[in-house]
Amino acid sequence: MTGDSDETAGEADAFVFFGASGDLAHKMIFPALHRMVQRGTLHVPVIGVASSGWTLSQLRDRARDSIATAGAGTNDGGALDRLLSLMAYVDGDYGDPATFTELRGVLGDARRPAHYLAVPPALFSTVVEGLATAGLTHDARVIIEKPFGRDLASARDLNRVLRSAFPEAAIFRIDHYLGKEEIMNLLYFRFANSFLEPIWNRNYVASVQITLAEQFGVQGRGAFYETAGCLRDVVENHLFQIVALLAMEPPPYQGMGAVQAEKFNVFKAMRPLSADDVVRGQFAGYRDEPGVAADSDVETFCALRLFIDSWRWAGVPWYLRSGKCLPETAAEVLVELQPPPQPLFADATSADGRANTLRFRLSPNPVIALAARVKRAGEAFIGDQRELSLLNAQPDEEQPYERLLGDALAGDGALFTREDAVEAAWAVVDSVLERHHPALPYQPGSWGPAEADALVAPNGRWHNPLPEPAPPL
Ligand code: BG6
Repeated sequence: MTGDSDETAGEADAFVFFGASGDLAHKMIFPALHRMVQRGTLHVPVIGVASSGWTLSQLRDRARDSIATAGAGTNDGGALDRLLSLMAYVDGDYGDPATFTELRGVLGDARRPAHYLAVPPALFSTVVEGLATAGLTHDARVIIEKPFGRDLASARDLNRVLRSAFPEAAIFRIDHYLGKEEIMNLLYFRFANSFLEPIWNRNYVASVQITLAEQFGVQGRGAFYETAGCLRDVVENHLFQIVALLAMEPPPYQGMGAVQAEKFNVFKAMRPLSADDVVRGQFAGYRDEPGVAADSDVETFCALRLFIDSWRWAGVPWYLRSGKCLPETAAEVLVELQPPPQPLFADATSADGRANTLRFRLSPNPVIALAARVKRAGEAFIGDQRELSLLNAQPDEEQPYERLLGDALAGDGALFTREDAVEAAWAVVDSVLERHHPALPYQPGSWGPAEADALVAPNGRWHNPLPEPAPPL
């Protein structure tokens, strides 16, 4: 797919990195910048900004440590040294105009900087206003991290702040799921093949399940999680993006602008959720986490039933589920087709495994598998459900941040979330953010509260992603 003409033209000539001393920087961003230098896709100045009282040498130490521990290591043919030599540092409070004046000085001749805001959302508007006042938004672009607001009203406010300083084409909203190979492959697989389209609709699809399961808990992010919860943290964004790619109409022309428009249409066609569409859970022990209220009702598990009121999907339930402290770390989509209309064989009455399914294992190791029944050898006409599977693991694939920061620097907005799509997605969940049933307790290591089973019962049961097979010896 190619980009569209409404994208900001040209390469950025500096990468300004607010929040350079933070966690995200250490876990994800330095390793991504390092790989970009290794691949030869990053060669502009990298200006870290933070309010930590650091010096450039401390920022470089931090980058070195990040790449050694969270990245590919430092035995890299000189890429780390090249990255360190591209780095500059500005220290200062984001609310202080002097910070931005200094940044302007460090930017020197740069005319098209990309400002990356790896800072808590509460600081987005302070930084944007600081940039605007210092005259650093002209011909510039801004890259921001989710969450894009915490409900429809705050998402609109954030969009207003961003749009007061940047045109929409210069705003890059990162949902890192869109930079994952296996998520991009959903789009490719659907529209690079023709066999799927005739059955990809309400006439053949009985239901769709999407599970994003995590074995780990909130990992010290209790205070953040208290402000978010599972629905806001991963469902409304990451899982909704997966739904949009699976449910969208074929883009009518080549170009990512067409994909963005069709995804937006999916969000618009989603029926707003009601409290009974959502089961919320909280793992036992969550309230003992640092930063978590002793009487917290925040959900660490969320299952929901969603309908897309379009011609293609009318009446087809989409079941989405995610949670912390579940038995596996895996993400999987299961599309269940209608069973054959007539039960001809003796085994057709068993509830399980009668329908064909298409399974997209998104992580840890991507697989696309079509399950169909085949006869067992012998006199009886009975069979088993077996999978035809395409293994899709690819060595040396770009990591999401590498891909997305590279695209943002290049001015290619294809894999970013558009303003209207952000608001349309919030509109679906807005009604249940405050009005919902209480979070039900579940044991760590279980698949969440039993009530989630009742949600899916009209279509059978949840398909729990299986553990990864052991690697071959
Ligand atoms: C983040 C959430 O956006 O996505 C985390 O804040 C979650 O809570 C993570 O664990 C999942 O991303 P991935 O790429 O590990 O599946």
